[in-house]
Amino acid sequence: MELAGKVAVITGGAVRLGRALTLALAQAGCHVFIHYGRSAAPAQQTQTDAQALGIQAHIFSADLADPNAVSRIIPAAVAQFGQVDILINNAAIFPEEDNFSHTDAALWDKLFAVNLRAPFLLSQAFAAQLPANTQGKIINITDARVRHPQTDHFVYRLTKGGLWQMTEMLAHALAPRVTVNAVALGAILPPPGQDEGYLQNLAQTRVPLQRAGSAEIVTQNVLHLLTQDFLTGVVIPIDGGEFL
Ligand SMILES: NC(=O)c1ccc[n+]([C@@H]2O[C@H](COP(=O)([O-])OP(=O)(O)OC[C@H]3O[C@@H](n4cnc5c(N)ncnc54)[C@H](OP(=O)(O)O)[C@@H]3O)[C@@H](O)[C@H]2O)c1
Repeated sequence: MELAGKVAVITGGAVRLGRALTLALAQAGCHVFIHYGRSAAPAQQTQTDAQALGIQAHIFSADLADPNAVSRIIPAAVAQFGQVDILINNAAIFPEEDNFSHTDAALWDKLFAVNLRAPFLLSQAFAAQLPANTQGKIINITDARVRHPQTDHFVYRLTKGGLWQMTEMLAHALAPRVTVNAVALGAILPPPGQDEGYLQNLAQTRVPLQRAGSAEIVTQNVLHLLTQDFLTGVVIPIDGGEFL
């Protein structure tokens, strides 16, 4: 797929990896529809930075825990741009308190709603609006840690494992018009509140390549998946070998 001139919706596209993905797509010539939750000021900044790359950019807020709000995202992008060619399911929550003893029904429901139900509903709406004879691309951002079952971030792991499997299921369900691929991330950015030193220490002890990844490595792999027309159901672990 030639990316220039295509329209991409990026969930959680205002900050951190989402912002990097938004700007990489804009750099490649895509018009971007930047979904955000609470980061209104960063969304405006990302919109300004994307527009400076010579494309059209719009921002739109919706709480991904609320299915009615989710249902407004793709129609709003279609209203702005006429159609959507690319969907990046990036937004997710990663709560510290999500362990076996403390996770309760409310946290379970919120994690599944944001991390798995929203990507499902958005994929459905994306496929439904795609005009006949048009190729579409979905990229899901999942987590490489699900390759090694452990008990930290208990329900988060289940949602990201589900997103991995849903990538393969959607690849079947939406072929031949839409390809559905994913990247499964390891140590890429430090968690909010931690600095780069934290990530480098972790990488030295846990990552076979003894270094952390970067937003650029993620965007390079996502752009690669978007330009490949014979890849679908592929999940690329980007983890320096941590979860081999
Ligand atoms: N960082 C890493 O090294 C790493 C490692 C493994 C996997 N990942 C995955 O990579 C993706 C991006 O990671 P990140 O570290 O950049 O994430 P992050 O800093 O935690 O950002 C989360 C994003 O999700 C959005 N979001 C969360 N809850 C939302 C809700 N209820 N409604 C709407 N938007 C919501 C946030 O939007 P607002 O700020 O606008 O509310 C934000 O843009 C995630 O899927 C994450 O699981 C990241």
